[in-house]
Amino acid sequence: MQSGNIFRHRLTLFLTLVVSISPTIQQELAAGDLNALHQITYTLTDVKTGGFFSTWNFTSPENPCYSFAGVTCDVVNNQLRVVSLYLGTGLSDSPGLAGTISATGIYDLTELTQLILYPGIVTGFIPSLIGHRLKNLRVISLTNNRLTGTIPASISELQNLHTLDLSHNELTGVIPPMLPSALPELRVLVLAYNNIAGEIPEFSDESHLIHLDLRNNKLSGTLPVTIPAMLRYLSLSSNGLWGPVNYVPSSYLVYLDLSMNKFSGPLPNSLFRSSLSSMYLQRNNFSGEVQPPPPSSFPEPYGPGSTVDLSHNFMSGEIPSFLNSVETLFLNNNHFSGKVPESYVTNVFAGATKTLYLQHNYLTSFPMENNGETVLPEGVALCLSYNCMVPPAVGLRACPASAGGPVSRPFRQCSVFNSGNSLG
Ligand SMILES: *[C@@H]1O[C@H](CO)[C@@H](O)[C@H](O)[C@H]1NC(C)=O
Ligand SMILES: *[C@@H]1O[C@H](CO)[C@@H](O)[C@H](O)[C@H]1NC(C)=O
Repeated sequence: MQSGNIFRHRLTLFLTLVVSISPTIQQELAAGDLNALHQITYTLTDVKTGGFFSTWNFTSPENPCYSFAGVTCDVVNNQLRVVSLYLGTGLSDSPGLAGTISATGIYDLTELTQLILYPGIVTGFIPSLIGHRLKNLRVISLTNNRLTGTIPASISELQNLHTLDLSHNELTGVIPPMLPSALPELRVLVLAYNNIAGEIPEFSDESHLIHLDLRNNKLSGTLPVTIPAMLRYLSLSSNGLWGPVNYVPSSYLVYLDLSMNKFSGPLPNSLFRSSLSSMYLQRNNFSGEVQPPPPSSFPEPYGPGSTVDLSHNFMSGEIPSFLNSVETLFLNNNHFSGKVPESYVTNVFAGATKTLYLQHNYLTSFPMENNGETVLPEGVALCLSYNCMVPPAVGLRACPASAGGPVSRPFRQCSVFNSGNSLG
């Protein structure tokens, strides 16, 4: 009994070993893929010798699938093929790679599903037929290099593409018009920090995109009419976008950055909801009063970790009280007037509000009378300078250098404003 069991165990172990190592014994990397890897090394090199490519030894008898860094293979149609290629070590102390991406090399790796280039100083174009030749690509990530030229239109052919990240390069031209609508599987699109111009193409109604980051480019025009409903993260900061913002984000959206554009008109109250806990709208041309959103947008207050930045716009009217639960709130450099609601005073002194910037407005009072405390908790930043009041001493200590100048706004500017109010 005993020895029979042991025998059976050994047999199982033996069979497991044979099955798991059999690709090594039986199969070599497909010749076309081996040649492609060789081609890649003709144009791409380590910035520092002894880096990433030191394991790519083409004269060694070892199988590249198991000995080359960054190469992963799989059996496809009874052939051992390269399915993912990570170029560079990805280590933070590595200077990365230099040279260019060989189109002829890459085009032959037709079973590639992932192409990753780690930060370095790689120049040249993204091979233009990449989407036409490498039909199975799911992930393309070529970030933090010096790639130039345009985003290949052929990328719109990649029906399985899930992630496209080309951020921090020197890409020019426009976003291929079909790209956002033709990729049913696309979840992550990051083109930030390039020199991409033109308008943002329309997305399809069926888009499953959850992360869209186009910040720091040269985009112009208005917001797309259809913004993917499942977005969790949207940044269009630092472009030349303009026009009104008619956007009703879903409750999935937690991060919205439209800062440093030329958006104008009133802020739709659909933007204010507690689930959208990081919202950056500063340095635009927004005007009008903040209209309170419906209570259904606030099943709970904003709370810890939340940030709302409306600074450097032309917002007017009174400070809206529903923003009093935001932890980091920038309303400075606008045309807000009237008294600051008492709930703001309470939350600042309770330490629930960590940063409250109200400088450079037309506010007339920060009502501390009913507040028990007069000393701000450690780490709380409050700035009230350059308003239509003599601010309490606590309202000046945390002002940034940019809020310098007189602590109050010149009387003439305030009287014009106030007399206008009282006459009307
Ligand atoms: C590459 O492999 C060959 C054969 O195993 C070996 O002689 C040679 O030293 C290796 N080259 C490098 C740079 O490791
Ligand atoms: C910004 O707003 C001002 C007045 O509110 C207007 O005169 C100006 O044309 C606007 N600029 C843009 C780029 O919309």
